[in-house]
Amino acid sequence: MSDRTGIFAGDDPFAITRAWLAEAEVSEPNDPNAIALSTVDADGMPNVRMVLLKDIEAEAFVFYTNYGSVKAQEIEQAGRAAFVLHWKTLRRQVRVRGTATRADGPEADAYYDSRSLKSRLGAWASHQSQPLDSRTSLMAEVAKVTATHGTHPKRPPFWGGFRIVPTEMEFWADGAFRLHDRFRWTRESAQTSWKIQRLQP
Ligand SMILES: Cc1cc2nc3c(=O)[nH]c(=O)nc-3n(C[C@H](O)[C@H](O)[C@H](O)COP(=O)(O)O)c2cc1C
Repeated sequence: MSDRTGIFAGDDPFAITRAWLAEAEVSEPNDPNAIALSTVDADGMPNVRMVLLKDIEAEAFVFYTNYGSVKAQEIEQAGRAAFVLHWKTLRRQVRVRGTATRADGPEADAYYDSRSLKSRLGAWASHQSQPLDSRTSLMAEVAKVTATHGTHPKRPPFWGGFRIVPTEMEFWADGAFRLHDRFRWTRESAQTSWKIQRLQP
């Protein structure tokens, strides 16, 4: 019989992530949806940076970025990514590894349209991850795109989401004397069912 109870109960790892995130939204001082997103370059050199997790779908996680950025190039080259959610207030982490593809359909338009006008224009102005001469040049670019796109900018073709479909997820919660609880969900692909294992701390 499984001894997976309490905060680990249930077989749907997306439901558990949603429940833990809802708790973190109450306890974290800011950005409870911040994830450390890991990619790998063409030489196998790992890379990591924070982004905001914007949607938890039935079978995938979605974040938004610039498609010309380093992270986007690395994801498109490898077709895969990993991330971790960590909440200091809850002393818990969720680890995710999987395949990653563009989410640039109507959901990306809807999310872009929900952002403030300044953020929408900022997405047009920034060639993310490229060198920049000065802050002044960036503000000049913001003025230029404001003149071009006005108050109803469309989502830039170079900006949108990525959807990570996990083949592995792990839920970790702090335990007394470093005897933490860990449960790992693994599956061959999104079409196959999950296998769940308790792991040594
Ligand atoms: C808390 C936090 C949230 C962030 N959220 C995003 C985000 O949602 N999308 C994004 O493109 N960059 C985000 N950033 C900036 C990235 O960490 C990073 O600087 C940028 O995306 C360029 O990364 P790259 O050169 O590896 O592509 C965030 C940074 C922090 C600290």
